[in-house]
Amino acid sequence: MDRGRSTEPLKLREVRIANRIWMSPMCQYSAGQDGVPTNWHGVHYGSRAVGGSGMIMVESTAVGPRHRTTPHDLGIWSAEQIVGHRMLASQIKELGSVAAIQLNSAGRKSSHRQPWVQSGQNSAVPVQDGGWVPLAPSPIAFGKLTAPAGMTAADIDDVVDAFAAATVNAHDAGYDVVEIHAAHGYLLHQFLSPVSNARQDEYGGSLENRMRLPLRVAKAVRDAFPPEKPMLVRVTATDWIEGGITLDEAKVFAKRLARLGTDLLDVTSGALAADAPPPNRQGLNLDFAESIKRAAGIAVAPVGQMADPDLLRDVFESSSVDAVIIGRALLRDPYYALRLVGDQPKEYWPSQYHRAL
Ligand SMILES: Cc1cc2nc3c(=O)[nH]c(=O)nc-3n(C[C@H](O)[C@H](O)[C@H](O)COP(=O)(O)O)c2cc1C
Repeated sequence: MDRGRSTEPLKLREVRIANRIWMSPMCQYSAGQDGVPTNWHGVHYGSRAVGGSGMIMVESTAVGPRHRTTPHDLGIWSAEQIVGHRMLASQIKELGSVAAIQLNSAGRKSSHRQPWVQSGQNSAVPVQDGGWVPLAPSPIAFGKLTAPAGMTAADIDDVVDAFAAATVNAHDAGYDVVEIHAAHGYLLHQFLSPVSNARQDEYGGSLENRMRLPLRVAKAVRDAFPPEKPMLVRVTATDWIEGGITLDEAKVFAKRLARLGTDLLDVTSGALAADAPPPNRQGLNLDFAESIKRAAGIAVAPVGQMADPDLLRDVFESSSVDAVIIGRALLRDPYYALRLVGDQPKEYWPSQYHRAL
């Protein structure tokens, strides 16, 4: 691939990211007891850091036990978890990348099995087997998962506090960047979309009301993170469902996030409802990301089938997006970022590998 802008550094606040090819957050469902990172996480993220991804976004990490997708999710609410994250963040940084973490509450997509067990994400872990009743804006189940409890005003305040506390813990653990997950049908997205939010109070109905919790969370996270460290938000450009979030609504949300001090929007779409898969096509969120950038006036990075080298060459030649986020291609090959940019200049590769070039 012609490297184009792909190896230009990007500075967000005081954090310098060495290139524009970043690793997407991808749940490993492999945490130890009580959500603590394991050797799996160290090797998995460490090898992608050696493999040239400029920023490693550690997977969806729960802000509290009831906010996990499965009993095997990472968490960042306890002292023991912070110790594990400290090792993980230092490993990622020592191996040459920027350490970022995605903070999440799964809402109604909670208490399911690991994807490779039974019917995975569509199979609930019942309360008697160690599962729990999910929390959500309204008691509307996701597919075959356990019906959630509609959240009270106190539950909503607790979520804001949990995100703020998780942010303090992320800083304490040494992460350079935090990302709020407000997409893929998880709690904050559930509040944003009329499809999953049927509330009659100040958190439901108008767009202003549906944005209220996500914006409260963004403000709380920004306030809890040091000013020199950037905050990202993963946003959805559309629900791909009649009656769901549209690009126009996504742009209004993006502008409000920008005003609260968000540094970059990670643009995705879909996954709100079990029966509405996003279209299967290369670069499906690229145009959305450009459009959201024009509306919000801040940096953006699209995710979703962005790994094709020809597509990337065009993106780094002519698109206005600031970086590209890659998921599954990096599961298949930890060194995908290095392979994309090739072996010249050789300084781009770890010195330990120069004799192989
Ligand atoms: C195994 C797996 C786990 C994932 N976990 C997360 C996650 O923790 N947080 C998130 O925002 N997206 C998650 N995703 C979605 C990816 O981050 C990404 O948005 C999606 O795979 C599309 O990008 P790709 O076409 O490059 O794979 C996951 C995807 C996969 C395949």
